[in-house]
Amino acid sequence: MIPRIFLALSLWVTAVPSIASAHQVRNTRDHEQNDYYAVHLDGSTSPRDFASHLNLRYEGEVGALDGHHVFSAPRHIADVVDDAVEELKWRRRKREVDTERHILDGVLLNQKQALRQRLFKRSALPVVESPSKRVIVDYAGSLGIKDPIFGDQWHLHNPIQVGNDLNVTGVWMEGITGKNATVCIIDDGLDLDSDDLKDNYFAAGSYDFNDKSDEPKPRLSDDRHGTRCAGEVAAVRNNVCGVGVAYESRVSGVRILSKPISDIDEAESVTFGFQDNDIYSCSWGPPDDGRTMEGPGILIRRAFVTAVQKGRQGKGTIYVFAAGNGASNGDNCNFDGYTNSIYSITVGAIDKMNQHPYYSEQCSAQLVVTYSSGAGEAIHTTDVGKDTCTRGHGGTSAAGPLAAGVYALVLEQRPDLTWRDMQYLTILTAQPFYDGSQPEEWQDTALGRRFHHQYGYGRLDAYAIVDLAKSWEVVNPQAWFHSPWIHVRHGLPQGDQGLASSFDVTEDMLKDANFERVEHITVTMNVPHQRRGDLSVELHSPTGLVSYLSVDRPRDDAAVGYVDWTFMSVVHWGESGVGTWTIIVKDRHVNEFAGTFQDWKLRLWGESIDADKQGLLPMPLPGDDSDHDDDPSTVTASPDTTSVGGSPVTSVPGNPTDHIDRPSKPSSAGAPPSDAPEASGIIGADPSASPSAVPDSSFLPSPFPTFGVSKKTQIWIYAAMGLIVAFVIGLCIALVVIRWRKRRNPRDVYEFDVLPDEEESGEREGMIARRGKGRRRRAGELYDAFAGESEEELFSEEDEEPYQDEKVELSDAEEDSSEGSGSRARG
Ligand SMILES: *[C@@H]1O[C@H](CO)[C@@H](O)[C@H](O)[C@H]1NC(C)=O
Ligand SMILES: *[C@@H]1O[C@H](CO)[C@@H](O)[C@H](O)[C@H]1NC(C)=O
Repeated sequence: MIPRIFLALSLWVTAVPSIASAHQVRNTRDHEQNDYYAVHLDGSTSPRDFASHLNLRYEGEVGALDGHHVFSAPRHIADVVDDAVEELKWRRRKREVDTERHILDGVLLNQKQALRQRLFKRSALPVVESPSKRVIVDYAGSLGIKDPIFGDQWHLHNPIQVGNDLNVTGVWMEGITGKNATVCIIDDGLDLDSDDLKDNYFAAGSYDFNDKSDEPKPRLSDDRHGTRCAGEVAAVRNNVCGVGVAYESRVSGVRILSKPISDIDEAESVTFGFQDNDIYSCSWGPPDDGRTMEGPGILIRRAFVTAVQKGRQGKGTIYVFAAGNGASNGDNCNFDGYTNSIYSITVGAIDKMNQHPYYSEQCSAQLVVTYSSGAGEAIHTTDVGKDTCTRGHGGTSAAGPLAAGVYALVLEQRPDLTWRDMQYLTILTAQPFYDGSQPEEWQDTALGRRFHHQYGYGRLDAYAIVDLAKSWEVVNPQAWFHSPWIHVRHGLPQGDQGLASSFDVTEDMLKDANFERVEHITVTMNVPHQRRGDLSVELHSPTGLVSYLSVDRPRDDAAVGYVDWTFMSVVHWGESGVGTWTIIVKDRHVNEFAGTFQDWKLRLWGESIDADKQGLLPMPLPGDDSDHDDDPSTVTASPDTTSVGGSPVTSVPGNPTDHIDRPSKPSSAGAPPSDAPEASGIIGADPSASPSAVPDSSFLPSPFPTFGVSKKTQIWIYAAMGLIVAFVIGLCIALVVIRWRKRRNPRDVYEFDVLPDEEESGEREGMIARRGKGRRRRAGELYDAFAGESEEELFSEEDEEPYQDEKVELSDAEEDSSEGSGSRARG
């Protein structure tokens, strides 16, 4: 990987030690002794000159990332780089006057790298040894499947709950089994010696970033997760355990979850061997504790962009991420920067009965679901050991790899598909289903599909997706349209109102952007708030579809709100994008924690009109979102850009039965008043067209309306309104006090109890409320169970299978998120 020019340079830069290869770099990093820096240099700057200028040691390149280099300095003198960065900033400011070239002019990006806390496995269920059953389904014969537990692999073929499986047998019957496709499991290792994996194991795509070895062997006692995921994808058709979804695909392993790693290592791991590894299956992420809001650092984000642009010979690496297991913690996959990346396919779980298992998170970025544990069952597959099987693999961790396996089948059929084609195919073939309640939560989307925040576009169907892939025309390259920063700068009302802000996208804007139609939508926003978990955000599209970009999270009491956080939605896939997009921020919890809707930026990602004109997205920069105020043209004041920048703030009526008219409020950023009626019309009209949107209720378009009466009468009206408001506030305080008293009952202290707030917000919020209610009830049962039984009892009781399973998962999820708590010894 190290370019040859550096060899030449090293002949005269004598102070520099011998050149490290990419592998050597990984082998020699010592975070105890050194600080490491990832630096992006433009082509004109030699990394060795840079190193000698700053007295650093050059360590080599960062994996697949162009122009990114690693430098180190002994820990005690590490300030040199920080000083250099200051110098760099200073030089940038005076660049116009000073034309003489300086070595720091070539520095584009600098990042100090520390080891990060380890990422969390999405779930780990305890090992349950399966007595090998000889139940083999009839047609297994014609496929030559003699694997002893194939009959238990209901997720592949379910003869009991007919249809509740991946629908993959028909694909195998056509001879499509994943040949020539490679899935890389980024996890805690892969047992390459397992008789069920070794024939499909792909060594060249594998590496251990935790122990710096070419073989990603499971080395810790609980390193079982990655092997199980690998078994789901590519367990060999033989006489050991069961088969994988793509049982003739290749499977590689990259080990990162068993020790802390740096962003440099993580960036290398997600692009490791990315010309040969087609699909990366990632069943991990930031903690699913309902209070974490965290995403990949800049190097890792650059690695993702590099991979979709260059990986798989330019067709783009396919990333599959497990949605997360934090639903019972009130978590949502839009608070996880990996699952809400446009570059990842986010996969949630449903159980054998097509029900939502208590753990699987929802969000507007979730594309699809597939089967996993719950309803007394789990996934049966390979485990660590020569011929060991498990019947206890579960969580969204087990759902992700099944999707990755299905994508391997698709790639055998159509290796030429791009990363976005795979997302199209997923959307167009996923099967909506009814879990027995709330059919109205499925929204009809622009592509004629249905979307549900809990289930994405529905269940993944292997036969349907492979079948559509056969005739699929590859889509045009990706185009994008980015709005300027839309400044709102207005305090958030508390309670059921929201603060809305709109942005008009015109046909010309999209034509100029070479933009044909929407795929992903991202919204980056700043909402400082004293209690982040109180916030929720909706995005209403021009056609009336609603994305719940964020939901309130009872456990999240970070006093920061949203800081340049990017939410993502796949709900609007297929819309033209033209029209008014409205974002509504709510602070529904009436309490002492307040916040401000500062600003937001809308980004549409989609298909280009003219493929020849379309360039590649520039690499993300750390300062991409720090231009809020730099560019005066993005400020809302200009009267000529009313539809671009001017976004008046409006109160959104909270309760359909509440007939008190609420005045709207103008943007404090000085939006032209002419905008107010326009936006209010939109908010009033659009939602009614949508199945689960905020119902319309009349409200007044401009601040402090005159009601067409005399000043005196107005004073009376406002005085009366003031009294009403005072009364409502008093009522709220009383309610809060009553609730607070109630919660002092020790049994109710448990945090799930906070959720009823949603429930009380009435019919309008029916969708979220019902979900919150269900979750709470479920969590309550689990809580009771824990309180009443010891762990041994949980494991020994046979007759309570369904609950047993779920208790186990919950305890494990908690164990994972508290890392290393005592209960780990259980297995
Ligand atoms: C499931 O597979 C069968 C073929 O095995 C196919 O006929 C059927 O249409 C598939 N289901 C869906 C929803 O496509
Ligand atoms: C497998 O992939 C390689 C490289 O992508 C290609 O050259 C080869 O023809 C493929 N083999 C089959 C059987 O499709």
